[in-house]
Amino acid sequence: MTVKIEAFLLTERLVLEPVRELHARELFAPLQDARIFTYMPEDPPGTPEALAIRYHLWERRVSPDGNERWLNWVVRLATTGEAIGLLQATVRAEAPAIVAYLLFPAHWGRGYAREGLSRVLRLLFEEYGVVCAAALVDTRNARSIALLRALGFRLAQTVRQADFYKGRVSDEHRFQLPRAVWLRR
Ligand SMILES: CC(C)(COP(=O)(O)OP(=O)(O)OC[C@H]1O[C@@H](n2cnc3c(N)ncnc32)[C@H](O)[C@@H]1OP(=O)(O)O)[C@@H](O)C(=O)NCCC(=O)NCCS
Repeated sequence: MTVKIEAFLLTERLVLEPVRELHARELFAPLQDARIFTYMPEDPPGTPEALAIRYHLWERRVSPDGNERWLNWVVRLATTGEAIGLLQATVRAEAPAIVAYLLFPAHWGRGYAREGLSRVLRLLFEEYGVVCAAALVDTRNARSIALLRALGFRLAQTVRQADFYKGRVSDEHRFQLPRAVWLRR
């Protein structure tokens, strides 16, 4: 792979900037909104320092065993530079690349997730040679499911009791988008 891993990605309304440790201070406060985590088996970050440790790890851009590329971006409005969310992709050698995303709630309902994720998918399919993208979604997460369907993802599998978190059990949809389907859009 010869892709420049630290590259910024641009769309009509967004700038996607690779996440760095220094972003923890800026993102800690907006990540405290519990609505973001309603359907995710995690809590808002505990402290800016804990978030900085996580982002420091992400800055490696590769898993310790070398088998995964960790791509992640702060999503910014091109007009103001305001951070509005995060996008991620885990590129694996022999398996679908897994995408993940979140927007801060004030920015839901404007098509920003669709626009940003679409740019990331283009990078994965056209520059990383990924043959299939996948996403794992709580079956109740209607907004996320609508986003995936709008981009051409199809339901591949539903796993009952896929997650146990804080005494809550959740079912999970596994969505997939093969490159061939993406190219036919
Ligand atoms: C999942 C999530 C990113 C979806 O955000 P979103 O803003 O609903 O997603 P989209 O970018 O696809 O926007 C679609 C909405 O924007 C509207 N929209 C406005 N302008 C638009 C445009 N130019 N293009 C496309 N859609 C547009 C659409 O009509 C749609 O509105 P609706 O929700 O009222 O039907 C968001 O809900 C979120 O961050 N949730 C918490 C984290 C999470 O659950 N992540 C996923 C874990 S699997």
